[in-house]
Amino acid sequence: MATLKVREVTKRFGGLVALDRVNLSVEERELRGIIGPNGAGKTTLFNLITGELKPTGGKIFLDDEDITGLPPHLICQKGLSRTFQLTSIFPELTVYESIWVGINSKRHRWNPFTKVKNLTDVAERAEKICHLIGLQEKRDELAVNLSYGDQKILEIGMALSTEPSILLLDEPTQGVSPKEAEEIIGVIQRLAKDITVILIEHSVDVVLQVCHKVTVLHEGRVIAEGDPAEISKNEEVQRVYLGEA
Ligand SMILES: Nc1ncnc2c1ncn2[C@@H]1O[C@H](COP(=O)(O)OP(=O)(O)O)[C@@H](O)[C@H]1O
Ligand SMILES: [Mg+2]
Repeated sequence: MATLKVREVTKRFGGLVALDRVNLSVEERELRGIIGPNGAGKTTLFNLITGELKPTGGKIFLDDEDITGLPPHLICQKGLSRTFQLTSIFPELTVYESIWVGINSKRHRWNPFTKVKNLTDVAERAEKICHLIGLQEKRDELAVNLSYGDQKILEIGMALSTEPSILLLDEPTQGVSPKEAEEIIGVIQRLAKDITVILIEHSVDVVLQVCHKVTVLHEGRVIAEGDPAEISKNEEVQRVYLGEA
């Protein structure tokens, strides 16, 4: 069963058509890559899926439920979580605290009376996420003191704290060293064994290497979709990227 469906979604900013009748279906536990030149509409697509922006037209479904236009916190509660293209951490919290806060705020929203009773539960979950993202040895370091690559990984951990079934990552390797990028991609591959991951990524090589299926956006339209082998052979995709270079 498809977990996320985007149907004929259009987004206009004044006279600019940022997305033009985009369709996208992502299956459960897929690791989907989204690539495309700057300004293609990738981040806008995430903003529409997570409710930060409302589409001008079209519909978005999560497990066949229409979530179009719902506010971000409700969409998050339904199991969708994201990271942002620009790093957003709490500098003065430790790794462990950053994740703990996220978990507890979600449980609090569900039922305020379980908050105190289930603190052990929250702590266990926070430990588990620290391990999952490979930051258990740095759990007591302040976020501000982490390397940039580890900050990007912590952001992924914070996005996991709301226990999403679908995780949207917006260029998680932007600005990090090749070695850090490798670590981040390793974490993403590990996560994708249990949840659905949609990855916007600048490096086409990375996406072709790790994703099950790739969607290519160009000037607000999906110009290609397929497995990595199909995408690397696709002439229009090659043209778009050669044109950019
Ligand atoms: N809030 C906004 N207001 C006006 N224009 C926007 C806004 N967000 C994005 N855009 C425009 O929409 C287009 C797609 O942007 P974006 O989705 O950020 O592209 P990408 O993430 O693929 O680089 C760009 O032309 C961008 O300038
Ligand atoms: Mg972007």
